[in-house]
Amino acid sequence: MQLIDGKKTSAEIKKEIAAEVESMTARGIRRPHLAAILVGHDGGSETYVANKVKSCAECGFTSTLLRFEDDITEQQLLAEVAKLNENPDIDGFIVQLPLPAHIDEQKVIEAVSPDKDVDGFHPVNVGRLSIGLPGFKSATPAGIIELLRRYGISTRGKHVVVIGRSNIVGKPIASLLMQKGNTGDATVTVCHSHTQNLKDIVRSADIIIAALGKPGFVTADMVKDGATVIDVGTTRVPDASRKSGFRLCGDVDFDNVAPKCEFITPVPGGVGPMTIVSLMLNTLQAAKQRRGC
Ligand code: GUN
Repeated sequence: MQLIDGKKTSAEIKKEIAAEVESMTARGIRRPHLAAILVGHDGGSETYVANKVKSCAECGFTSTLLRFEDDITEQQLLAEVAKLNENPDIDGFIVQLPLPAHIDEQKVIEAVSPDKDVDGFHPVNVGRLSIGLPGFKSATPAGIIELLRRYGISTRGKHVVVIGRSNIVGKPIASLLMQKGNTGDATVTVCHSHTQNLKDIVRSADIIIAALGKPGFVTADMVKDGATVIDVGTTRVPDASRKSGFRLCGDVDFDNVAPKCEFITPVPGGVGPMTIVSLMLNTLQAAKQRRGC
């Protein structure tokens, strides 16, 4: 069994990005600039956004954090999005999800200009990804593909079973893996809450991508010997022994599944750090496009 170390890989990629940014600035090209909108005080969102701002600094990017209380109206938030769309200093921006219930998330996602949508959530970017055109790829799926690529795990002709059909992980990772080419060419099955014989289907997988948000859902009896397991779960489970009061729990029963695997990602330190690094890569791509380099 080999552990897929997302923390180490993401640190390497951040160094590569920082080197590229230094070479850009040496040629007189302005640093990439990412903005993030954070509404309210959700603990998970606070942590994610703080990590995104920290990663910007590590990559040599400029970052701007715009915070709003959770009583911001939909109209006010849409006006803030419009300002960022028009601001020539901003290369790309994200609106951290989830948003308060009185705001229509999809409306906000569709208000972001596709050429600044470094989350890859706008239907234009989702559509481009699904037909194999260049565009901003949703960060978590892009991070998974990069991990598989860097660990030399071929997907060609393999049966990949994705558990979960969310717009930001399940659907786009299934699209990417079925594309023609080196990091695709897989036979993909997507399982969800209505799938019959789910255990049997998962057991037939060469590569399992667990992205349903249920701690410990994938058990050893569902995994064939020699499979590769990618765990996207990051559920916060109360844990009084931790200073934070919680621990992050993956969707895979790691201790019992790991011995059966050829490769497996841990939680934390697997997919999570790669998600943030993919956002940095999208922001670098946005900056290069805007500067024509
Ligand atoms: N909430 C959970 N994951 C994400 C993400 O990748 N981007 C944004 N904007 N919000 C999220």
